[in-house]
Amino acid sequence: MARKKIALIGAGNIGGTLAHLAAIKELGDIVLFDVVEGVPQGKALDLSQCGPVEGFDAKIIGSNDYADIAGADVIIVTAGVARKPGMSRDDLLGINLKVMKAVGEGIKNNAPNAFVICITNPLDAMVWALREFSGLPHHMVVGMAGVLDSARFSHFLADEFEVSVRDVNTFVLGGHGDTMVPVVQYSTVAGIPVPDLIEQGRSTKERIDAIVQRTRSGGGEIVALLKTGSAYYAPATSGIAMAEAYLNDQKRLLPCAAHVDGKYGLDGLYVGVPVIIGAGGVEQIVEIKLDDEAKSNLQVSVDAVKELLDACKAIDESLK
Ligand code: APR
Repeated sequence: MARKKIALIGAGNIGGTLAHLAAIKELGDIVLFDVVEGVPQGKALDLSQCGPVEGFDAKIIGSNDYADIAGADVIIVTAGVARKPGMSRDDLLGINLKVMKAVGEGIKNNAPNAFVICITNPLDAMVWALREFSGLPHHMVVGMAGVLDSARFSHFLADEFEVSVRDVNTFVLGGHGDTMVPVVQYSTVAGIPVPDLIEQGRSTKERIDAIVQRTRSGGGEIVALLKTGSAYYAPATSGIAMAEAYLNDQKRLLPCAAHVDGKYGLDGLYVGVPVIIGAGGVEQIVEIKLDDEAKSNLQVSVDAVKELLDACKAIDESLK
């Protein structure tokens, strides 16, 4: 059987890390695409030279030509501008919308059967725009946010409870922005809900609220420290988990920005919800019961995403 093909659109910090992880995990052959000449080729050569040490045979090429993504099974999009200190995700909107148009057309013309994972921010608006510009079926275009946000939430909770991250399972819903909704009610340590752990005196509501807030601004905390860019290791790891779920038909239940039409009272919006990813792409959207606080937080988040979509439509007439 021929190897799978992974195309990475954007060969920056996340793109390079994605390529490294995909090669080490032997997910398939890799094409690193970027508009800048030399960078994808240089990174591809550098990464290929990991092969003899790591023992992988994946072919990694760099390209500035969309024709090279033809036949890709999975495409992960990180093309665009990353957030700088003081810049909100939403400031990125105008710049990255233009990038999504070029990428969407490149995918439509060269790899229309791929499963596409968008990472470019502001995520919920960019994944929607990418789907519109590419014309691919909704279940084949998904945004990476919830896996990263819940990884951040899990990391902070594992520290708080002094337990292994392996035993922490968290849930984050809504948009990938300051209005995201970490759902405490569905977050557990080895199956024990966080509210029960608070009752046992292992933490307090105030401390958990502070962790929720830190999770919401988790991206910004890293931007402030790095000063010249945004997070890339954990975003890349999260994107790879979603690609593996598709390639290996894992039927993983992951929080992702998916097209929700009908469930959660939404009518055709990309927003973070639990989905099942398998060989069919987004195979199901799972609707969970939310308490009143989570419901109203989700509404705030949905409204923020809708505002972003309106802003996109105002910038690009073809999206109306
Ligand atoms: N087509 C292809 N690649 C592009 C295009 C385009 N039209 N425009 C820009 N790029 C490339 C840049 O040349 C750069 O190599 O996208 C890459 C982005 O890389 P970085 O600046 O290193 O950004 P990164 O940290 O990888 O983040 C990428 O993901 O999390 C989000 O907010 C983040 O939107 C940002 C994206």
